[in-house]
Amino acid sequence: MIVAPSVLSLDFTDTRTQIEELNASDAAWMHFDVMDGHFVPNLSFGPDILKAFCKISPLFKDVHLMVSDPLTYSTIFLEAGADLVTVHYEAMEEDQIRPFAQRIHSLGKKAGLSIKPKTPVEVLKPYLADFDLFLIMSVEPGFGGQKFHAEAVGRIRTLRKWIDEAGVAALIEVDGGINEETGAMCRMAGCDVLVAGSYVFKNDIKKAVQSLE
Ligand code: DX5
Ligand code: ZN
Repeated sequence: MIVAPSVLSLDFTDTRTQIEELNASDAAWMHFDVMDGHFVPNLSFGPDILKAFCKISPLFKDVHLMVSDPLTYSTIFLEAGADLVTVHYEAMEEDQIRPFAQRIHSLGKKAGLSIKPKTPVEVLKPYLADFDLFLIMSVEPGFGGQKFHAEAVGRIRTLRKWIDEAGVAALIEVDGGINEETGAMCRMAGCDVLVAGSYVFKNDIKKAVQSLE
């Protein structure tokens, strides 16, 4: 299991120490939530913060773009150091989706496609071979610390089946309300990457990451 702690929930009065603790944990990825106050009713980080985190952390930078203009911001965050950029299906025109993945790949980076809880998982099916990762939101995007929507488990199971049947290597990631218990449910359903914000940063970072592995 890949664990991707969401730095949205870190204690910003103690940023460097917390990032160092994260670096020393078993987490392989850092999940970086970008919010524009338009696609979601909250604002988070700009590219300079990602650049700063890249300087002090070697973890793989998993950038989740919760923005209305993902095409512009994907470029900006790739330049700032993203290894993978995930965009929302709901923010894209259908005919932009495949060219987006192709453009990211031509830059040597990884591309992800995400759906909100109310978007049918079927919308992902045409793109199984095009993306490196599919992100199933298990809360309405916008805020950390929300309760896990259990419907995500069935959505992960369905997607796992399609990915295996298609014989492609895409990863399934889940984001929102993940703790030891909900993480175990997602693992059993076939998830590959667990994003966890409040559970990791409001507990002992190393132990919380270990409990999700
Ligand atoms: C929510 C974000 C999440 C968030 C998860 O919009 O995409 O990554 O930080 O936080 P928790 O784990 O606290 O639900
Ligand atoms: Zn996220």
